[in-house]
Amino acid sequence: MRAIHIVTTRLSSSFIRPILLDFVSCSPLRQFSIPRRFICAATKANGGGRSGSIVAPLVVNEDFQKIDVNPPKGTRDFPPEDMRLRNWLFNHFKEVSRLFGYEEVDFPVLETEALFIRKAGEEIRDQLYCFEDRGNRRVALRPELTPSLARLVIQKGKSVSLPLKWFAVGQCWRYERMTRGRRREHYQWNMDIIGVPEVTAEAELISSIVTFFKRIGITASDVGFKVSSRKVLQELLKKYGVPEDLFGRVCIIIDKIEKIPIDEIKKELGFTGISEDAIEQLLQVLSVKSLDDLEADILGGAGEAIADLKQLFSLAEKFGYSEWIQFDASVVRGLAYYTGIVFEGFDRKGKLRAICGGGRYDRLLSTYGGDDIPACGFGFGDAVIVELLKEKDLLPELGQEVENIVCALDKDLQGAAATVATTLRDKGQSVDLVLESKPLKWVFKRAARVNARRLVLVGKAEWEDGSVSVKVLSSGEQFQVKLNDLE
Ligand code: HAM
Repeated sequence: MRAIHIVTTRLSSSFIRPILLDFVSCSPLRQFSIPRRFICAATKANGGGRSGSIVAPLVVNEDFQKIDVNPPKGTRDFPPEDMRLRNWLFNHFKEVSRLFGYEEVDFPVLETEALFIRKAGEEIRDQLYCFEDRGNRRVALRPELTPSLARLVIQKGKSVSLPLKWFAVGQCWRYERMTRGRRREHYQWNMDIIGVPEVTAEAELISSIVTFFKRIGITASDVGFKVSSRKVLQELLKKYGVPEDLFGRVCIIIDKIEKIPIDEIKKELGFTGISEDAIEQLLQVLSVKSLDDLEADILGGAGEAIADLKQLFSLAEKFGYSEWIQFDASVVRGLAYYTGIVFEGFDRKGKLRAICGGGRYDRLLSTYGGDDIPACGFGFGDAVIVELLKEKDLLPELGQEVENIVCALDKDLQGAAATVATTLRDKGQSVDLVLESKPLKWVFKRAARVNARRLVLVGKAEWEDGSVSVKVLSSGEQFQVKLNDLE
């Protein structure tokens, strides 16, 4: 055994770490593999291994070849059957976005850490996969797409004409406690409208999610949207003279109401400096489930919050999804940047966490130094919806689909079979070419497994005549056809 021992007491030292990482990454894979227990030991030596920090192995040893074949906790492989489901889902995301006239965008999965650090004490910040890269830059795997979108809008500046209607489907990373439908990596479908201050934008966004639900067989009796406006809280805070810059922080605390005891919530709100009276009123408003009660009892007449919500409900009727939405003042959402309407999709049986969520974020751009542009959008994860489809027995059956299996009946005809395959592929037909000599029984079995439509057999006599045999598998019909006429 040729073991390479690198002994260091503080691997997090910025001096030794890049050297170690360079050393490991430059080594040919077969020469050095990293035993898991050494990595764990090194992680412990570095203080327990904070999420996302890069920790170099203490010892690099060439004799270990075994690796854990499972992906890291909370992440997924996508073998073909899962990939088929993912593609099916994403195609619906994309098709709905297309129906609503959106353009697709994408951003890097790795961003600067600063993009995701906001002052409000959000949960998402503690869940960040962040580390220092080899150039000593603080970077993070994106936990959401909205900050990247805001960055790109600022970067594009005046070169784009508003409003923008952009959608993206991308992987996000959050070091979450794992529960049903919540993972450490997930894909999010986002649709955002930049440059429209009217509630028409939120109303159309919800309409696109409803369109998606309907396409995949989910109805208003399975799923609903809880809708509120952060302006409700804003108006209350204003009434109590609470400074505006506390708004984001207060919303984040209130969003935790179902996760931590009410006394803790009150204590945290108290730390922000707002009065006991204001805290009591804030908590009271969260239990309101009717817009009329809110208007009459709490806000004392019409204000922006009520006007926005009323307009949204009226538009919902026009778009045709009234039965899907309800007012619920307890929806605040856990991200600091929302400023107006907020909404969340939920399953009516109450078994799952939020299916999707979004809202208006008119002031996010200025927090990055840009000019504010009114904006709103939503994020829709790929995990909870699959759980819901399973519950409802609505998961589609998706087999592999290949149009043709092409097989040479003789080893000498493998070149001819390759020519047949190319001819078909040139005409846009998919072909699974049998690459070895296999008995016909095996070929039939394979054809059934890949759901092939036709079997194209290349036999000696037919090929000498420039023809092949075709068998249509659904009907059993069989015929000979000249290669040039094969469609
Ligand atoms: P969010 O509520 O944090 O909002 O996430 C949106 C959706 O992403 C959730 O409703 C859920 O479907 C999915 N999701 C979030 N975290 C996880 C996880 N750990 N595992 C599985 N699925 C998850 C946002 O991210 C906002 N940026 C959305 C937005 C876009 N607002 C305006 N534009």
